[in-house]
Amino acid sequence: MKVLVTGCAGFVGSHLTERLLNDGFEVLGIDSFLDYYSEKIKEANLKNARKNPRFEFIKADILELELKDVLEGVDCIFHQAAQAGVRSSWGDSFQIYTNSNILATQRLLEACARDRGERGIRRFVYASSSSVYGDTKSLPTCEHELPRPISPYGVSKLAGEHLCYLYWKNFGVPTIALRYFTVYGPRQRPDMAFYKFIDAIFNSRKITIYGDGNQTRDFTFVSDIVEANILAIDGGEDGNVYNIGGGSRISVNRIIDILEKITGKNAVVEHTKTQKGDVKDTYADISKAEADLGYKSRVSIEEGLKKQVMWHREHAQI
Ligand SMILES: NC(=O)c1ccc[n+]([C@@H]2O[C@H](COP(=O)([O-])OP(=O)(O)OC[C@H]3O[C@@H](n4cnc5c(N)ncnc54)[C@H](O)[C@@H]3O)[C@@H](O)[C@H]2O)c1
Repeated sequence: MKVLVTGCAGFVGSHLTERLLNDGFEVLGIDSFLDYYSEKIKEANLKNARKNPRFEFIKADILELELKDVLEGVDCIFHQAAQAGVRSSWGDSFQIYTNSNILATQRLLEACARDRGERGIRRFVYASSSSVYGDTKSLPTCEHELPRPISPYGVSKLAGEHLCYLYWKNFGVPTIALRYFTVYGPRQRPDMAFYKFIDAIFNSRKITIYGDGNQTRDFTFVSDIVEANILAIDGGEDGNVYNIGGGSRISVNRIIDILEKITGKNAVVEHTKTQKGDVKDTYADISKAEADLGYKSRVSIEEGLKKQVMWHREHAQI
C-alpha cells in the first residue's frame, strides 16, 4: 500500500515514516523544511528513511504542489505537516499558521474530494492537538467537550479539524482527526520543553519554567502517537476526532525531578511569568480511542524520558 506522510522531516512525521517503512508500506514523504527550526535537524530526522528504497521524498510546500499528480496511487494520507508551536503563533506570524495549518489542509482535502474519482482515499488522518481544548476545567477531557482554544495555534488546528469534518460530511473523504497531547521522545522539536530542559541540564544552563511549574500535562511518547496513526488506517469512524494521550498527568516540576534522577545531575531552575496561550492543565480521556481504535498508551513517562535523554546524549548536539 502506498501512503503519503506530510511533514515527514519533522519530529512526529519522521518517526511515523520509519514505522510505515518498517511495516512494508511504500511511503511518499512531503516536507517544505519550514525554517521554524534548523534544516540540519530535519535532514538528520530523514536519514534512516532515505536509505529505504520504498521511500520517495518531495521537498516542497503543500501549497505549491500539483496535488492531483502527487496523490496518484496514494491510499492513505497522514497529514502531519503544520507550523507547530503555541507561543510563536501571535502577531504577524499567524500568517504562517494560516498557510500551513489551514490552507494547506484545505488544499489536500479538496484534492482528495476532487481529483480521486472512483478510487477514493482509504483514510485521511489529520494530526490535531489538545490545544483545541484551551483552558478547560473538565479533566480528563472528553472529545465532546466544547473546543475553546486560547492560542492562535489552537485556532488553526481546530480549523483544520473542522475542514476534515466538512470534507467527510459533504464529499465523503474518510477523515479522522487525532488530538495529540504533548508529544515527547527522541527528535523532539528543539523549541519544546523536554528538549530544552535536557539540553540545559547537560550544558549546565538554567532551565526556565513559565509559571510555578505546577501546571500539568498529559505527555505522550512518540511511539504511542505513531501507533495511533497506524490504528487509524482502518479503525475508528470517519468524520470523528479522537484524543491520543499518554494516559497520565504530571506536573512540570515533577518532570524536572525525574530528569535529575535519570541524568544524575542537578537542574538549576528559574521561574518566569506564564506565557499567553499556554493552558494550565491537559489530561486526555482516551476511552473513545481505546474503544474505537484499540489504542493503548504503552510507554510510561519514566521510560519515555530515559529514551529521550539517551537520544539527546548521542544525537542532539548537531
Ligand atoms: N509535537 C507535539 O507535541 C504536538 C502536539 C499536538 C499536535 N501536534 C501536531 O503534530 C504534527 C507534527 O508536529 P511536530 O511536533 O512533528 O512538528 P514539526 O515542526 O517537527 O513537523 C512539522 C513538519 O511539517 C513541515 N511543514 C509545515 N508546513 C508545511 C507545508 N505547508 N508543506 C510541507 N511541509 C510543511 C515542516 O517543515 C516540519 O518539518 C503537527 O501537525 C502538529 O500540529 C504536535
